[in-house]
Amino acid sequence: MKQHHNERVNFGSRLGAILAAAGSAVGLGNIWRFPYETGNHGGAAFILIYLGCVFIFGLPIMMAEFTIGRRSKASTGGAYEVLAPGTCWKWVGYLGVLTGFLILGYYTVVAGWTLEYIFQAATLGFSEKTPDDFVVMFQHFSQNPLRPLLWLFIFMFATHFIVVRGVKEGIEKSSKIMMPVLFVLVLLLCVCSLTLPGAEKGVEFLLKPDFSKVTADVFLGAMGQAFFSLSLGMGCLSTYASYFGKETRLGHTAMSVGLIDTCVAVLAGLIIFPAAFAVGIQPDAGPSLIFITLPNVFQQAFSGIPVLGYVCSIAFYVLLALAALTSTISLHEVSTAFLHEKFHFTRTRAAWIVTVGALVIGVVSSLALGEWSAYTIGGMNIFDAIDYLTAKIMLPVSGMFAAIFVGWVLDRSIVRGEATNYGTLKSSYYPLYLFILKFVAPIGIVLIFVNELGLLG
Ligand code: PHE
Repeated sequence: MKQHHNERVNFGSRLGAILAAAGSAVGLGNIWRFPYETGNHGGAAFILIYLGCVFIFGLPIMMAEFTIGRRSKASTGGAYEVLAPGTCWKWVGYLGVLTGFLILGYYTVVAGWTLEYIFQAATLGFSEKTPDDFVVMFQHFSQNPLRPLLWLFIFMFATHFIVVRGVKEGIEKSSKIMMPVLFVLVLLLCVCSLTLPGAEKGVEFLLKPDFSKVTADVFLGAMGQAFFSLSLGMGCLSTYASYFGKETRLGHTAMSVGLIDTCVAVLAGLIIFPAAFAVGIQPDAGPSLIFITLPNVFQQAFSGIPVLGYVCSIAFYVLLALAALTSTISLHEVSTAFLHEKFHFTRTRAAWIVTVGALVIGVVSSLALGEWSAYTIGGMNIFDAIDYLTAKIMLPVSGMFAAIFVGWVLDRSIVRGEATNYGTLKSSYYPLYLFILKFVAPIGIVLIFVNELGLLG
């Protein structure tokens, strides 16, 4: 394994590093998955537990990934080989690369749908439709063999060309442009939604906890959501951390990324729930919430001022596309950096291999929702099977190994050194951080894992 200690490119600034990592974290997980999970699990109580999971498990594991990445100066696929040469730990790195690659394939399918919805919103495709029409519209579109593939290709190529431009010019620059636009859109949409008559009911749903709904399942669901949303467990953030400069403060960066990710998720809830309650729609529609319920909500909520409905619908799907793009870039980078470093391909060639491979997975998962839905693995279509395998099995497993590696295997002076920038920062949280990595996180993840596999019954 060739190491790139000296020649390695870094993010140009601390802010660039934070925005790139936040770009990875903020994605469909925040705006698509978080609201429907909250809706299904009864609102505020789920959010409180989610916040606990982010701060207790999420941030320490994010720090662990940052430590692995910055210290090794290698992508996640090579990091363990640098830090623990000649051991089996390298397989954890490879597992991360494979997980990221598979997720890239099916995540880009959903990301492509956001482009269709921008197109529909912009060409008045939502106007004068009834709630039932939106169901039919979504089914027709997602089961159509060609149209979703067209958007999948466009989205994948957009990701490809940004990654090919490199760490500074591609990833950092695009995050610095897209993330502020995303924040502005979230805030504007929030204001629009909160000023609707009847919005208070949605706010109450989000902020007033009903603990009678809390079961072990809610608790563990919140923990799974925290890992997915923070991009933990597949080495995305450790790959980005390999581009952090030595002045980047890991604790501060993890805290910023965690806060940004959480704020965007809660704000997405403040966009969706007040609007849904304002028009009397229940928020527990599940994964189709933002593709079926929401266009309808915007139509009805702003029926008095159609222009506002039109603008908000477009803005919402643009927001979703931007959030997804900064995440697909990070997923793509994990495999591209790995091929580039391990096999010494140029970045462009490495990126092409990843793009073509991920497109194959994307095409298969997209067709699995329509033409090929008869092919199943363990009772699931291929799209659901890849989602299940990656998000529910591979992700917690490699997240747990990252915690164990930093907590138990990596030299303590390195762990402390990375947390304190080799003695220049105080980092008073260090003992707690280490305790969580050693005990709380591994045990917690084993619990999620056991639950997800249904072993708890
Ligand atoms: N965190 C991203 C989201 O919330 C998803 C993601 C997971 C991206 C893992 C990269 C790596 O949508």
